[in-house]
Amino acid sequence: SDIEKGTYPHYMLKEIDEQPFVIRNIIQKYQQENGNLKLADDIRRAMQETDRIYIVACGTSYHAGLVGKQFIEKMAGIPVEVHIASEFGYNMPLLSAKPLFIFISQSGETADSRAVLVKVKEMGHKALTLTNVPGSTLSREADYTLALYAGPEIAVASTKAYIAQIAVLAILAADTAKAKGLDIGFDLMQEMGIVASAIETLCDSKDEMKKIADEFLGTHRNAFFLGRGVDYYVCLEGALKLKEISYIQAEGFAGGELKHGPIALIETDTPVVALATQESVSLNIRGNVKEVVARGANPCLISMAGMEEEGDRFVLPAVHEMLTPLVSVIPLQLISYYAALHRGCDVDKPRNLAKSVTVE
Ligand code: G6P
Repeated sequence: SDIEKGTYPHYMLKEIDEQPFVIRNIIQKYQQENGNLKLADDIRRAMQETDRIYIVACGTSYHAGLVGKQFIEKMAGIPVEVHIASEFGYNMPLLSAKPLFIFISQSGETADSRAVLVKVKEMGHKALTLTNVPGSTLSREADYTLALYAGPEIAVASTKAYIAQIAVLAILAADTAKAKGLDIGFDLMQEMGIVASAIETLCDSKDEMKKIADEFLGTHRNAFFLGRGVDYYVCLEGALKLKEISYIQAEGFAGGELKHGPIALIETDTPVVALATQESVSLNIRGNVKEVVARGANPCLISMAGMEEEGDRFVLPAVHEMLTPLVSVIPLQLISYYAALHRGCDVDKPRNLAKSVTVE
């Protein structure tokens, strides 16, 4: 309703702006008074007992799962596979001896994810659901639930649920690491506080994002997103956001794959967004940008403070290198929003899409 939207023209913009609050809310909900993480004992035990985690999700939630894999593997040392729910359904991989399933679903009602949940429960496996709607089908039918605490998400294009999913996955990974006696080397909650402030700064940069969207994407029919490492996963999400609401054909590619196909698509003025938040691959991604510029592309390089170079289109406030997806996605959400506006699209209810896909 209009009341809930307040002074905002669209739910999507309101939900983007709520993101600093979402992160702070998650910090509060998942922290004990003594500063330790707060997670149910049975979830902690399931994480300690498993030898391999299978993350199953669709759409934006799948993209959050790709980021979550990095957290769980790097912090907690547990191998993780991330699967698209529908594909998992037809093509179940060989499972390990002690699998744990993690379903990620904003709505908790996605039919393809539920079909996998039903199947793995029949096989006798344990499942944890991360959802924004405790009490939803996927929450009720799983053994355990972790709430996202993002508040109702109305816009079809998911924004705040994505960062909530990533934040909760980071907490899950850090908690498991601690339970296993592993040192992750940084204070997650403190770093997430820094993330919340960084997101706030980005939400205050709307004019700049609008400018980028208007100048850069205004009239183009396609756009590419390039990243390496975790930036690649955020590029997949950035491209999904843009195509969902602006109908620009947008694709995310791993920088290293550029030469294996995507570069053939570069023409004069083709918009190419590149992310450079990871020190270890910064030079390589900058190399990719040079390669597309040499073919006439119009680049928009988004880097992180401390790694910026002259000519970068936008510089993100610095955050811990593992948590960069929580901030690098914000400009991509905003650029998509303004590109859709610029094109006169129905931002909150894009054609052909549903908020929750409850048929297989
Ligand atoms: C639909 C929505 C997406 C969402 C996906 C998965 O396609 O439009 O925004 O990412 O479903 O939904 P879920 O509720 O399972 O996260």
